[in-house]
Amino acid sequence: MEKQKLIGPFKQLIPMTELNLKGPISDEQLTIVKDAGIIIQNGKINNIGNFNTLKAEATNIEIQELKGNHTCLPGLIDAHTHICFGGSRANDYAMRNAGRSYLEIANAGGGIWDTVIQTRKLNQEELIKRTAKLAKRHLKNGVTTIEVKSGYGLSVDEELKMLRAIKAANENVSADLIATCLAAHMLPKDFEGDQAAYLKEISEELFPILKAEKLTNRIDAFIEESAFSAAQIAPYFEKATAMGFDITVHADQFSTSGSQVAIAINAISADHLEASTTKEINALAQSNVIATALPGASIGLGCAFTPARRILDAGGALAIASDHNPGSAPMGDLLTQATILATFEKLTNAEVLAGITFRAAAALNLKDRGQLTKGFNADFIGFHTDNYQEILYNQGNFKPCMVWKNGELVFDKHQ
Ligand code: NIG
Ligand code: FE
Repeated sequence: MEKQKLIGPFKQLIPMTELNLKGPISDEQLTIVKDAGIIIQNGKINNIGNFNTLKAEATNIEIQELKGNHTCLPGLIDAHTHICFGGSRANDYAMRNAGRSYLEIANAGGGIWDTVIQTRKLNQEELIKRTAKLAKRHLKNGVTTIEVKSGYGLSVDEELKMLRAIKAANENVSADLIATCLAAHMLPKDFEGDQAAYLKEISEELFPILKAEKLTNRIDAFIEESAFSAAQIAPYFEKATAMGFDITVHADQFSTSGSQVAIAINAISADHLEASTTKEINALAQSNVIATALPGASIGLGCAFTPARRILDAGGALAIASDHNPGSAPMGDLLTQATILATFEKLTNAEVLAGITFRAAAALNLKDRGQLTKGFNADFIGFHTDNYQEILYNQGNFKPCMVWKNGELVFDKHQ
């Protein structure tokens, strides 16, 4: 048994416990532990309480005493990113803002396929380095768990290269990287055959290797006119489900149908949902599927936001993720994006924090994080303030000064 460690005091600690997974949350429902201390052991939370009381009671304990005012939140969870990629799509961005259409940009050599070409040019080592660099940036911003998708390889070998790179990057950074296979991102331009043939090849040849090498337990697909239809994806998801994979879906980004597929297959999450109408919102709210809003894609593309308020009011579970990718969401700042979504969609502080902590954990089917409570991972972050409201009030321009992962201080701005 490792020696226990007491960390604090935190003027305010928001454990994000005793809150519903689904539906609206008012700020009054948030528990605020004042002058709090956290006792950790073996990377897990052992106890939370008044710092001075815990200190007085403790024997044979290491104490990390903080100076000044700090507020503590659970480590943030970004449940949807594409941070494993080569190249840049700065030219797409410039063209989009100059008024060019998606088709024009794709015809000019931009779009997802451009990133596929750039990603294929990198060897695994280069891809590991780039992924780790972006993951470290997220970690400094308080994100202790980061989902990372493949989907810029688009062949059995190139998808394997990506997923092996994500696995290796996970070893190199303190944040946990949760890999997802997005081989169904689009039909690769160099594949000789149709969508059905491509998906068949991926499911028959790639899925067993993902299991054998433990590269991922999650399968994603982009359901959209430019990618795959609901009918094309159904057998692919059925095969994945039969093999025990969790399913997540890029759904209702520009047109609806993806969220219905997600509900029918009992997916863990349906992400994007910018185009969802009342019908999709209600169906999602009645299901167990987590609705993940991606404000970074709305900001990157200049499109409408996911109807987050309506999803919550209908009784849905709302996570918020960055979608950090080189094309539609180049910013990659979860806290900034979540707080901007809140101003446009009228989300409470509690709903935003839920969306990037325990509801995001649910979107990844992770049951050991997202809340500060006994037995959970000791993943938490400190901000220089005595009032948690300051965090979102500063609209992302106020970052954590300290980040702990599994009880270890992995970032300290004071040093
Ligand atoms: O989540 N929508 C599809 N996939 C990504 C975009 C990827 C890209 O443009 O490179 C997304 O927005
Ligand atoms: Fe995405």
